[in-house]
Amino acid sequence: MTGALQNTRFLGIETSCDETGVALYSRAEGLIDHRLFSQVDIHSLYGGVVPELASRDHVRRLTPMVREIMDANRLDGRDIAGVAYTAGPGLIGALLVGAAFSRSLAFGWGVPAIAVHHMEAHLLAPLLEDDPPQFPFLALLVSGGHTLLVDVQAIGRYRILGTTLDDAAGEAFDKGAMLLGLGLPGGPALAQLAMEGNPARFDLPRPLTRKPGLDFSFSGLKTALAITFEKVTSGEPPTHLKADLAASYQQAIVDTLAIKCRRAAEATGHSRLVVAGGVGANRNLRERLRVDFHALGGRVYYPRPEFCTDNGAMIALAGSLRAQNAMLDLTIQARPRWPLDDLRPAGAENPLVGV
Ligand code: KG4
Ligand code: ZN
Repeated sequence: MTGALQNTRFLGIETSCDETGVALYSRAEGLIDHRLFSQVDIHSLYGGVVPELASRDHVRRLTPMVREIMDANRLDGRDIAGVAYTAGPGLIGALLVGAAFSRSLAFGWGVPAIAVHHMEAHLLAPLLEDDPPQFPFLALLVSGGHTLLVDVQAIGRYRILGTTLDDAAGEAFDKGAMLLGLGLPGGPALAQLAMEGNPARFDLPRPLTRKPGLDFSFSGLKTALAITFEKVTSGEPPTHLKADLAASYQQAIVDTLAIKCRRAAEATGHSRLVVAGGVGANRNLRERLRVDFHALGGRVYYPRPEFCTDNGAMIALAGSLRAQNAMLDLTIQARPRWPLDDLRPAGAENPLVGV
Protein backbone atom coordinates (compact mmCIF):
# COMPACT_ATOMS: atom_id res chain seq x y z
CA MET A 1 0.00 0.00 0.00
CA THR A 2 1.31 3.48 -0.83
CA GLY A 3 0.24 7.12 -0.41
CA ALA A 4 0.34 9.88 2.16
CA LEU A 5 -1.00 7.65 4.94
CA GLN A 6 1.69 5.03 4.43
CA ASN A 7 3.83 5.99 7.39
CA THR A 8 1.30 6.97 9.98
CA ARG A 9 0.00 3.55 10.95
CA PHE A 10 0.90 1.92 14.23
CA LEU A 11 0.57 -1.70 15.17
CA GLY A 12 -0.45 -2.10 18.83
CA ILE A 13 0.22 -5.25 20.85
CA GLU A 14 -1.27 -5.98 24.28
CA THR A 15 -0.11 -8.95 26.38
CA SER A 16 -0.04 -7.69 29.97
CA CYS A 17 -2.37 -10.32 31.42
CA ASP A 18 -4.73 -12.89 29.92
CA GLU A 19 -5.79 -11.15 26.73
CA THR A 20 -3.86 -11.04 23.48
CA GLY A 21 -4.81 -7.86 21.62
CA VAL A 22 -3.55 -6.56 18.27
CA ALA A 23 -4.73 -3.43 16.47
CA LEU A 24 -3.89 -0.95 13.73
CA TYR A 25 -4.35 2.74 14.38
CA SER A 26 -3.33 5.94 12.66
CA ARG A 27 -4.00 9.49 13.76
CA ALA A 28 -5.17 10.28 10.24
CA GLU A 29 -7.49 7.31 9.79
CA GLY A 30 -8.40 6.51 13.40
CA LEU A 31 -8.81 2.87 14.40
CA ILE A 32 -8.28 0.74 11.31
CA ASP A 33 -8.85 -2.72 12.74
CA HIS A 34 -8.41 -4.73 15.92
CA ARG A 35 -8.43 -8.34 17.15
CA LEU A 36 -8.68 -9.84 20.62
CA PHE A 37 -8.17 -13.31 21.97
CA SER A 38 -9.30 -13.90 25.55
CA GLN A 39 -7.69 -16.73 27.51
CA VAL A 40 -10.59 -16.90 29.96
CA ASP A 41 -11.37 -20.56 29.16
CA ILE A 42 -7.75 -21.57 29.80
CA HIS A 43 -7.67 -20.01 33.27
CA SER A 44 -11.24 -20.66 34.41
CA LEU A 45 -10.30 -24.21 35.46
CA TYR A 46 -7.92 -22.74 38.05
CA GLY A 47 -10.09 -19.92 39.42
CA GLY A 48 -7.62 -17.21 38.40
CA VAL A 49 -4.97 -16.28 35.84
CA VAL A 50 -2.02 -18.72 35.81
CA PRO A 51 0.94 -16.56 34.70
CA GLU A 52 2.92 -19.31 32.96
CA LEU A 53 -0.11 -20.46 30.95
CA ALA A 54 -0.81 -16.84 30.01
CA SER A 55 2.74 -16.35 28.68
CA ARG A 56 2.63 -19.58 26.68
CA ASP A 57 -0.66 -18.70 25.07
CA HIS A 58 0.55 -15.22 24.08
CA VAL A 59 3.48 -16.97 22.35
CA ARG A 60 1.01 -19.19 20.51
CA ARG A 61 -1.36 -16.39 19.42
CA LEU A 62 0.79 -13.41 18.51
CA THR A 63 2.23 -14.44 15.14
CA PRO A 64 -1.06 -15.69 13.62
CA MET A 65 -3.01 -12.71 14.96
CA VAL A 66 -0.57 -10.13 13.59
CA ARG A 67 -0.38 -11.96 10.27
CA GLU A 68 -4.16 -12.07 10.11
CA ILE A 69 -4.74 -8.38 10.81
CA MET A 70 -2.01 -7.30 8.37
CA ASP A 71 -3.33 -9.57 5.60
CA ALA A 72 -6.96 -8.58 6.18
CA ASN A 73 -5.97 -4.91 5.67
CA ARG A 74 -3.56 -5.66 2.82
CA LEU A 75 -0.65 -4.14 4.73
CA ASP A 76 2.96 -5.14 5.20
CA GLY A 77 5.87 -3.83 7.24
CA ARG A 78 6.44 -0.92 4.85
CA ASP A 79 3.03 0.51 5.80
CA ILE A 80 3.81 0.59 9.52
CA ALA A 81 5.37 3.59 11.29
CA GLY A 82 6.01 1.82 14.60
CA VAL A 83 5.13 -1.12 16.80
CA ALA A 84 3.62 -0.16 20.17
CA TYR A 85 3.56 -2.74 22.93
CA THR A 86 2.55 -2.90 26.59
CA ALA A 87 5.75 -2.63 28.62
CA GLY A 88 4.00 -2.69 32.03
CA PRO A 89 2.53 -2.88 34.55
CA GLY A 90 1.44 -6.51 34.29
CA LEU A 91 2.59 -10.13 34.57
CA ILE A 92 6.31 -10.18 33.84
CA GLY A 93 6.29 -13.31 31.64
CA ALA A 94 3.33 -12.09 29.60
CA LEU A 95 4.94 -8.64 29.21
CA LEU A 96 8.23 -10.14 28.09
CA VAL A 97 6.52 -12.17 25.38
CA GLY A 98 4.87 -9.05 23.92
CA ALA A 99 7.98 -6.91 24.36
CA ALA A 100 10.37 -9.39 22.72
CA PHE A 101 7.94 -10.09 19.88
CA SER A 102 7.27 -6.40 19.22
CA ARG A 103 10.92 -5.35 19.41
CA SER A 104 11.90 -8.10 16.97
CA LEU A 105 9.12 -7.21 14.56
CA ALA A 106 9.99 -3.50 14.73
CA PHE A 107 13.68 -4.27 14.19
CA GLY A 108 12.85 -6.46 11.19
CA TRP A 109 10.70 -3.70 9.70
CA GLY A 110 13.22 -0.98 10.54
CA VAL A 111 10.77 1.08 12.60
CA PRO A 112 10.72 2.16 16.27
CA ALA A 113 9.20 -0.01 18.97
CA ILE A 114 7.26 2.06 21.49
CA ALA A 115 7.05 0.92 25.12
CA VAL A 116 3.55 1.81 26.33
CA HIS A 117 2.34 2.16 29.92
CA HIS A 118 -0.78 -0.03 30.20
CA MET A 119 -2.65 2.36 32.51
CA GLU A 120 -1.81 5.37 30.35
CA ALA A 121 -3.29 3.44 27.43
CA HIS A 122 -6.49 2.76 29.45
CA LEU A 123 -6.63 6.44 30.36
CA LEU A 124 -6.32 7.54 26.73
CA ALA A 125 -8.77 4.93 25.36
CA PRO A 126 -11.70 7.41 25.19
CA LEU A 127 -9.68 9.23 22.50
CA LEU A 128 -10.58 6.29 20.23
CA GLU A 129 -14.18 7.49 20.23
CA ASP A 130 -15.89 10.26 18.26
CA ASP A 131 -16.19 13.44 20.32
CA PRO A 132 -13.24 12.67 22.64
CA PRO A 133 -12.59 14.62 25.87
CA GLN A 134 -10.42 17.73 25.82
CA PHE A 135 -7.55 18.06 28.31
CA PRO A 136 -7.51 18.66 31.25
CA PHE A 137 -9.80 16.13 32.88
CA LEU A 138 -10.28 13.90 35.88
CA ALA A 139 -9.81 10.16 35.30
CA LEU A 140 -11.11 7.17 37.21
CA LEU A 141 -9.06 4.10 36.26
CA VAL A 142 -10.70 0.97 37.56
CA SER A 143 -9.27 -2.37 36.50
CA GLY A 144 -8.36 -5.75 37.98
CA GLY A 145 -5.11 -4.40 39.40
CA HIS A 146 -5.70 -0.66 39.86
CA THR A 147 -8.12 1.87 41.28
CA LEU A 148 -6.83 5.36 40.60
CA LEU A 149 -8.25 8.86 40.57
CA VAL A 150 -5.96 10.98 38.41
CA ASP A 151 -5.75 14.68 37.64
CA VAL A 152 -4.81 14.64 33.94
CA GLN A 153 -3.39 17.93 32.61
CA ALA A 154 -1.96 16.55 29.36
CA ILE A 155 -0.43 13.34 28.03
CA GLY A 156 2.09 12.29 30.66
CA ARG A 157 1.15 15.02 33.12
CA TYR A 158 -0.60 12.96 35.74
CA ARG A 159 -1.18 13.66 39.42
CA ILE A 160 -2.50 10.71 41.41
CA LEU A 161 -5.27 12.00 43.69
CA GLY A 162 -6.34 8.70 45.19
CA THR A 163 -5.63 5.00 45.02
CA THR A 164 -6.71 1.83 46.75
CA LEU A 165 -5.13 0.88 50.04
CA ASP A 166 -5.81 -2.82 49.42
CA ASP A 167 -7.93 -4.52 46.72
CA ALA A 168 -8.63 -2.87 43.36
CA ALA A 169 -12.26 -2.32 42.30
CA GLY A 170 -12.04 -5.10 39.68
CA GLU A 171 -10.51 -7.40 42.27
CA ALA A 172 -13.44 -6.60 44.58
CA PHE A 173 -15.85 -7.64 41.82
CA ASP A 174 -13.83 -10.80 41.12
CA LYS A 175 -13.55 -11.81 44.79
CA GLY A 176 -17.23 -11.10 45.38
CA ALA A 177 -18.09 -13.26 42.36
CA MET A 178 -15.90 -16.05 43.68
CA LEU A 179 -17.63 -15.92 47.09
CA LEU A 180 -21.00 -16.24 45.36
CA GLY A 181 -19.72 -19.20 43.34
CA LEU A 182 -19.84 -17.41 39.98
CA GLY A 183 -17.45 -18.17 37.13
CA LEU A 184 -14.72 -16.11 35.53
CA PRO A 185 -14.51 -13.31 34.58
CA GLY A 186 -16.06 -12.34 37.90
CA GLY A 187 -17.03 -8.72 37.22
CA PRO A 188 -19.36 -9.32 34.28
CA ALA A 189 -20.82 -12.46 35.95
CA LEU A 190 -21.61 -10.57 39.16
CA ALA A 191 -23.04 -7.61 37.21
CA GLN A 192 -25.27 -9.99 35.23
CA LEU A 193 -26.66 -11.66 38.36
CA ALA A 194 -27.11 -8.27 40.05
CA MET A 195 -29.60 -7.30 37.34
CA GLU A 196 -32.11 -9.74 38.88
CA GLY A 197 -31.50 -8.70 42.48
CA ASN A 198 -32.61 -6.03 44.94
CA PRO A 199 -29.71 -3.61 45.61
CA ALA A 200 -31.37 -2.21 48.74
CA ARG A 201 -31.80 -5.54 50.53
CA PHE A 202 -28.41 -5.75 52.27
CA ASP A 203 -26.78 -2.75 53.87
CA LEU A 204 -23.10 -3.19 53.00
CA PRO A 205 -20.43 -0.56 53.85
CA ARG A 206 -19.24 2.21 51.51
CA PRO A 207 -15.61 2.11 52.74
CA LEU A 208 -13.73 5.36 53.53
CA THR A 209 -16.58 7.56 52.30
CA ARG A 210 -17.23 9.13 55.70
CA LYS A 211 -13.61 10.20 56.06
CA PRO A 212 -12.08 13.00 54.00
CA GLY A 213 -9.71 12.03 51.21
CA LEU A 214 -9.78 10.28 47.88
CA ASP A 215 -8.32 6.86 48.65
CA PHE A 216 -10.28 3.62 48.40
CA SER A 217 -10.38 0.37 50.35
CA PHE A 218 -12.38 -2.64 49.19
CA SER A 219 -11.14 -5.58 51.26
CA GLY A 220 -13.48 -4.84 54.20
CA LEU A 221 -16.44 -4.74 51.84
CA LYS A 222 -15.56 -8.20 50.56
CA THR A 223 -15.41 -9.45 54.16
CA ALA A 224 -18.80 -7.84 54.88
CA LEU A 225 -20.22 -9.73 51.89
CA ALA A 226 -18.77 -13.03 53.18
CA ILE A 227 -20.21 -12.47 56.67
CA THR A 228 -23.64 -11.49 55.33
CA PHE A 229 -23.66 -14.48 52.97
CA GLU A 230 -22.89 -16.84 55.84
CA LYS A 231 -25.55 -15.31 58.11
CA VAL A 232 -28.43 -15.56 55.66
CA THR A 233 -27.83 -18.82 53.82
CA SER A 234 -30.44 -20.78 55.78
CA GLY A 235 -33.69 -21.79 54.13
CA GLU A 236 -33.91 -19.32 51.26
CA PRO A 237 -33.72 -20.35 47.57
CA PRO A 238 -30.06 -19.65 46.83
CA THR A 239 -30.70 -17.97 43.46
CA HIS A 240 -32.78 -15.12 44.97
CA LEU A 241 -30.40 -14.65 47.81
CA LYS A 242 -27.36 -14.57 45.57
CA ALA A 243 -28.95 -12.08 43.18
CA ASP A 244 -29.82 -9.75 46.08
CA LEU A 245 -26.32 -10.11 47.50
CA ALA A 246 -24.75 -9.42 44.10
CA ALA A 247 -26.96 -6.35 43.56
CA SER A 248 -26.25 -4.96 47.05
CA TYR A 249 -22.53 -5.57 46.68
CA GLN A 250 -22.36 -3.96 43.23
CA GLN A 251 -24.34 -0.99 44.57
CA ALA A 252 -21.84 -0.55 47.42
CA ILE A 253 -18.88 -0.52 44.97
CA VAL A 254 -20.65 1.84 42.55
CA ASP A 255 -21.72 4.24 45.35
CA THR A 256 -18.19 4.29 46.76
CA LEU A 257 -16.60 5.06 43.38
CA ALA A 258 -19.24 7.71 42.59
CA ILE A 259 -18.86 9.48 45.96
CA LYS A 260 -15.08 9.75 45.46
CA CYS A 261 -15.41 10.94 41.85
CA ARG A 262 -17.75 13.69 42.94
CA ARG A 263 -15.40 14.67 45.74
CA ALA A 264 -12.44 14.74 43.33
CA ALA A 265 -14.39 16.90 40.86
CA GLU A 266 -15.19 19.36 43.64
CA ALA A 267 -11.58 19.40 44.89
CA THR A 268 -10.01 19.95 41.44
CA GLY A 269 -12.72 21.93 39.66
CA HIS A 270 -12.74 19.43 36.77
CA SER A 271 -16.10 18.94 35.11
CA ARG A 272 -14.93 16.28 32.64
CA LEU A 273 -14.49 12.75 33.94
CA VAL A 274 -12.90 9.93 31.95
CA VAL A 275 -13.70 6.43 33.17
CA ALA A 276 -11.56 3.59 31.87
CA GLY A 277 -10.34 0.09 32.74
CA GLY A 278 -12.37 -3.12 32.91
CA VAL A 279 -14.80 -1.98 35.63
CA GLY A 280 -15.63 0.99 33.39
CA ALA A 281 -17.66 -1.52 31.35
CA ASN A 282 -20.07 -1.87 34.30
CA ARG A 283 -23.45 -0.52 33.23
CA ASN A 284 -24.59 0.60 36.67
CA LEU A 285 -21.38 2.54 37.23
CA ARG A 286 -21.63 4.18 33.81
CA GLU A 287 -25.20 5.28 34.35
CA ARG A 288 -24.61 6.49 37.90
CA LEU A 289 -21.60 8.64 36.94
CA ARG A 290 -23.36 9.98 33.86
CA VAL A 291 -26.26 11.21 36.02
CA ASP A 292 -23.99 12.58 38.80
CA PHE A 293 -21.77 14.55 36.42
CA HIS A 294 -24.72 15.84 34.45
CA ALA A 295 -26.09 17.22 37.73
CA LEU A 296 -22.72 18.94 38.33
CA GLY A 297 -22.90 20.54 34.87
CA GLY A 298 -20.12 18.24 33.63
CA ARG A 299 -19.79 15.20 31.44
CA VAL A 300 -18.42 11.66 31.59
CA TYR A 301 -16.42 10.07 28.77
CA TYR A 302 -16.06 6.34 28.34
CA PRO A 303 -14.46 4.15 25.76
CA ARG A 304 -16.99 1.70 24.28
CA PRO A 305 -17.24 -1.30 26.67
CA GLU A 306 -14.94 -3.54 24.58
CA PHE A 307 -12.18 -0.92 24.91
CA CYS A 308 -12.66 -0.62 28.68
CA THR A 309 -11.17 -4.08 29.16
CA ASP A 310 -7.70 -4.92 27.86
CA ASN A 311 -7.28 -4.50 24.11
CA GLY A 312 -4.72 -3.73 21.41
CA ALA A 313 -6.51 -0.61 20.13
CA MET A 314 -5.65 1.51 23.17
CA ILE A 315 -2.00 0.40 22.92
CA ALA A 316 -1.79 1.37 19.24
CA LEU A 317 -3.39 4.74 20.04
CA ALA A 318 -1.10 5.46 23.03
CA GLY A 319 1.91 4.37 20.93
CA SER A 320 0.97 6.78 18.16
CA LEU A 321 0.82 9.62 20.70
CA ARG A 322 4.18 8.66 22.22
CA ALA A 323 5.91 7.84 18.94
CA GLN A 324 7.84 11.07 18.56
CA ASN A 325 10.06 10.01 21.44
CA ALA A 326 10.57 6.42 20.38
CA MET A 327 14.04 5.24 19.54
CA LEU A 328 15.35 2.65 17.15
CA ASP A 329 17.04 0.54 19.79
CA LEU A 330 16.91 -3.06 20.86
CA THR A 331 16.16 -2.73 24.55
CA ILE A 332 13.32 -5.00 25.59
CA GLN A 333 11.35 -3.05 28.15
CA ALA A 334 9.08 -4.76 30.65
CA ARG A 335 8.16 -3.47 34.11
CA PRO A 336 5.74 -5.52 36.21
CA ARG A 337 5.32 -2.52 38.57
CA TRP A 338 5.31 0.92 37.06
CA PRO A 339 3.69 3.93 38.80
CA LEU A 340 1.67 6.06 36.37
CA ASP A 341 3.11 9.29 37.74
CA ASP A 342 6.64 8.12 36.79
CA LEU A 343 5.78 9.04 33.20
CA ARG A 344 6.93 12.30 31.64
CA PRO A 345 4.88 14.52 29.33
CA ALA A 346 4.78 13.70 25.63
CA GLY A 347 7.48 15.76 23.94
CA ALA A 348 9.90 15.41 26.86
CA GLU A 349 13.21 13.94 25.78
CA ASN A 350 12.68 10.59 27.42
CA PRO A 351 9.03 10.16 28.41
CA LEU A 352 9.43 6.64 29.73
CA VAL A 353 11.83 7.13 32.58
CA GLY A 354 13.36 4.19 34.33
CA VAL A 355 12.28 1.56 31.80
O1 KG4 B 1 -8.72 -3.51 32.49
P1 KG4 B 1 -8.94 -4.96 32.62
O2 KG4 B 1 -9.48 -5.72 31.42
O3 KG4 B 1 -7.64 -5.72 33.02
C1 KG4 B 1 -6.71 -5.20 33.92
O4 KG4 B 1 -5.84 -4.42 33.47
O5 KG4 B 1 -6.87 -5.54 35.11
O6 KG4 B 1 -9.92 -5.16 33.87
C2 KG4 B 1 -10.35 -6.41 34.27
C3 KG4 B 1 -11.25 -6.24 35.47
C4 KG4 B 1 -11.64 -7.59 36.10
O7 KG4 B 1 -11.49 -7.49 37.49
C5 KG4 B 1 -13.10 -7.74 35.69
O8 KG4 B 1 -13.85 -8.52 36.59
C6 KG4 B 1 -13.56 -6.30 35.67
O9 KG4 B 1 -12.47 -5.58 35.11
N1 KG4 B 1 -14.76 -6.11 34.83
C7 KG4 B 1 -15.96 -5.72 35.33
C8 KG4 B 1 -16.85 -5.70 34.23
N2 KG4 B 1 -16.17 -6.07 33.11
C9 KG4 B 1 -14.88 -6.32 33.50
N3 KG4 B 1 -16.34 -5.39 36.57
C10 KG4 B 1 -17.61 -5.03 36.75
N4 KG4 B 1 -18.55 -5.00 35.77
C11 KG4 B 1 -18.21 -5.32 34.50
N5 KG4 B 1 -19.13 -5.28 33.53
ZN1 ZN C 1 -6.02 -3.33 31.88
